[in-house]
Amino acid sequence: MRNILKRAVDAFEDRTGLISFFGYLMRHPVPGDTGWWYVFGSAVLVAFMIQVVTGIALATRYVASSGSAYQVLQFITYHAVLGNFLRGMHFFGASAMILLVGVHMIQVFLMGCYKYPREFNWISGVMLLFVTIAMGFSGQLLRWDQTAVWATVLAAEMLGRTPFIGKYLARFLLGGKTLGGATLSRFFAFHVFFLPAAIFMFVGLHLYLVIHDGISAMPVPGQKVNPETYRAEYEKLLEEHGVPFWPDAAWRDVVVAFGVVVTIAALAYFVGPPHLGEPPNPSVLANDPSPDWYMLWYYAVLALLPRGMESVFMVAAPMAAIVFLLLVPVLWNKGERHPSRRPWAVAAVIMIVLSLTAFWIEGSRAPWSPKFDAQPLSAAQVGTTSPPIVAGALLFHDNGCEFCHTVDGHGGMRGPDLTDVAHRLSVDDLRIRIANGGGNMPSFAGILTHDDLDNLVAFLESRETLPAAPAQAASAHP
Ligand code: HEC
Repeated sequence: MRNILKRAVDAFEDRTGLISFFGYLMRHPVPGDTGWWYVFGSAVLVAFMIQVVTGIALATRYVASSGSAYQVLQFITYHAVLGNFLRGMHFFGASAMILLVGVHMIQVFLMGCYKYPREFNWISGVMLLFVTIAMGFSGQLLRWDQTAVWATVLAAEMLGRTPFIGKYLARFLLGGKTLGGATLSRFFAFHVFFLPAAIFMFVGLHLYLVIHDGISAMPVPGQKVNPETYRAEYEKLLEEHGVPFWPDAAWRDVVVAFGVVVTIAALAYFVGPPHLGEPPNPSVLANDPSPDWYMLWYYAVLALLPRGMESVFMVAAPMAAIVFLLLVPVLWNKGERHPSRRPWAVAAVIMIVLSLTAFWIEGSRAPWSPKFDAQPLSAAQVGTTSPPIVAGALLFHDNGCEFCHTVDGHGGMRGPDLTDVAHRLSVDDLRIRIANGGGNMPSFAGILTHDDLDNLVAFLESRETLPAAPAQAASAHP
């Protein structure tokens, strides 16, 4: 019996070489002093594996049709065995992947592990970062509730402002002029076929390069990377201080992998997946929509930018980020690796992390989104009994202007503060602006009557003069 087994194994090995190949992978020498620093990469891989498994399970039930997706998700969440847990695993797996990719990148950057000969490893990693973000973004829409749809509409709106090609980009994203069934099919195809295939490809390349070039040793201050001598020094280091990857170094990866799985499962079980909001309905604005946490900061940046700069930023900032990330290993692939000798690298990381955190905090207070619980202005805030102005104040609330615009410190911040808008715009300009919309402002031409417009404009015109001279408010507007 044993003999047969051994002969089968030998025959298999003879024909494939896979046993000695994997044996080599497991036992290849790595620097022995890296401690817990290099566990993040394999942690990302573990999170990705969770995504593959839970994603396939979810896809067996999911229907990418605008008519059924909402009901199917309700079914998965509330009726299917372990459905809620599965959705939770998939959501927290995605969160973990994004978080761990970030940590992995920071560690690689700070320790100069992207320097010669590992430049292509960094570049394939940058590709993986973008594909991972695209996975998160496309996955969010598959939830197909108000929030998901709203976040995608907003993204399309932003993309649409790219100069020259904006219209085509937005149309490509949505699969048509507006968000609908075609968008859902498109996002589904990207989310389950194209993007995962890209991830597998880049992960393959990434891991191949890890084996080909070896894992960096720990950085030592004063020990510079010199492409002419690096390979020889690395060989020598492995000979003197190398340890086999398994088990000497890899046991830490196993411990961390276990921790990642347990944490994600615990979050999925105790916290659960994002709540499913209302089914999407284009004629109703979502209540409290908010993109998933890892994208929140970007929406906040866009909402907080001065008016007119959004378009520039939309295009320039992602381009700059991509170019910068791709240039990192080109510009700085030699020299010192230790962070204590690279103050600018450390400062850059601190700056980026701090700004992201600040925007994230700002974004979670949601100034980027309409404020849907804005109450009508009180009589005291209207400050006058002049009928057109009172009617205008009511229209301002009833038509949702207040969701996006602040007046006298009251209302949302999606659009500009309108307290002193009369300074900037004439009566005619105001009428045109409100009727036509533009930017992120909806058009109200078909919604407001002529009289409504008059009253709204009267109300807006009355604002700037009111606080100073409330008594004359009724006659204050020109
Ligand atoms: C969904 C959010 C939203 C709603 C609802 C909305 N607006 Fe706006 N509004 C905006 C945005 C964003 C801008 C800035 C557009 C731009 O980039 O030029 C704007 C611009 C304006 C301007 C021009 C301000 C200036 O300083 O140039 C006026 C006036 C205005 N809105 C009035 C209204 C009125 C009146 C209503 C209700 C009938 C309304 N808005 C509803 C988002 C909104």
